[in-house]
Amino acid sequence: MYLQRRNRILRKSPAIRAMVAETVLTPNDFIAPLFIIEGKNISEEIPSMPGYMRSSLDKTVGHVKELYGLGIKSVLLFVKCDDHLKDNAGTEAINPNGLMQNSIKAIKDACPDIVVITDVALDPYSSFGHDGIVENQQIVNDKTVEVLAAMSVSHARAGADFVAPSDMMDGRIYAIRQALEENNFTQTGILSYSAKYASCFYGPFRDALDSAPGFGDKKTYQMNFANRVEAIKETLMDVEEGADIVMVKPALAYLDIIREVKNAVELPVSAYQVSGEYAMIKAASKLGWLNEEKAMIESLTSIKRAGADLIATYFAAEMARLLTS
Ligand code: PBG
Repeated sequence: MYLQRRNRILRKSPAIRAMVAETVLTPNDFIAPLFIIEGKNISEEIPSMPGYMRSSLDKTVGHVKELYGLGIKSVLLFVKCDDHLKDNAGTEAINPNGLMQNSIKAIKDACPDIVVITDVALDPYSSFGHDGIVENQQIVNDKTVEVLAAMSVSHARAGADFVAPSDMMDGRIYAIRQALEENNFTQTGILSYSAKYASCFYGPFRDALDSAPGFGDKKTYQMNFANRVEAIKETLMDVEEGADIVMVKPALAYLDIIREVKNAVELPVSAYQVSGEYAMIKAASKLGWLNEEKAMIESLTSIKRAGADLIATYFAAEMARLLTS
């Protein structure tokens, strides 16, 4: 048989495969999410996220330095708010001496070059476990947006490089950009969770922060996973309203959305490999059913190949360690 084209030539050896690889991961790609808790010298494993910790600020600062040493350029901060501080107004979310604000300052002091991104949503601070203010069992949009804007300004004041609204309220990117401008935070960026789906894959995260909704679900604000066109609409509106980076979340079950968003916008696209995606790989490898390292590399490479310029992932440190070793 004479073949005119033999595609396997380009797969013949590791060297050739490396030469023609279209997608290459680097530590610059990763955003490391961090869970910060009150207290001192505490680091506890999150049961549904094996190998992933919830840590007090002193421990977190050390960890951030380590991440920066591995080549990781950014961290995404989440705090676990004590129950007695939770209410229906987001009071603790805008406390200038709150755990988030203090964490931003401490991390920027200890490691000024790392890019600090902060989660902006009310769920960790909400007595209802919802991302917004609740009235008559409804999550009210406009009042929530006011608090999110104030929260963003308080994060900017503490030194955040980017605020990352993860709430999916309408009009919040516009309101946040305006509030940052009014307060002269012209260097603070917005990483918008533009296409965030109402997903079961957030389960372990809600364990980590004790932030599961107390009633109902999040389907009146987060997107229906049946929809694709809506993701483009949401993202284009966020771009118009002033987002600097847009994000698709979750990642692996939404690779089609990542690609479409990437084709539709002219700014960096991020994807979030969420807690449930991490937990699935960890669980299967614990049972001996998957090779953890290979599953990690393949899933992250696929997310980048789909179009993600940045990936928020609980594998950030593990992957960076592998890439730099
Ligand atoms: C809060 C928020 C969530 C996640 C990031 N920010 C949970 C939710 O929306 O219920 C999920 C992250 C993950 O699962 O890793 N607004």
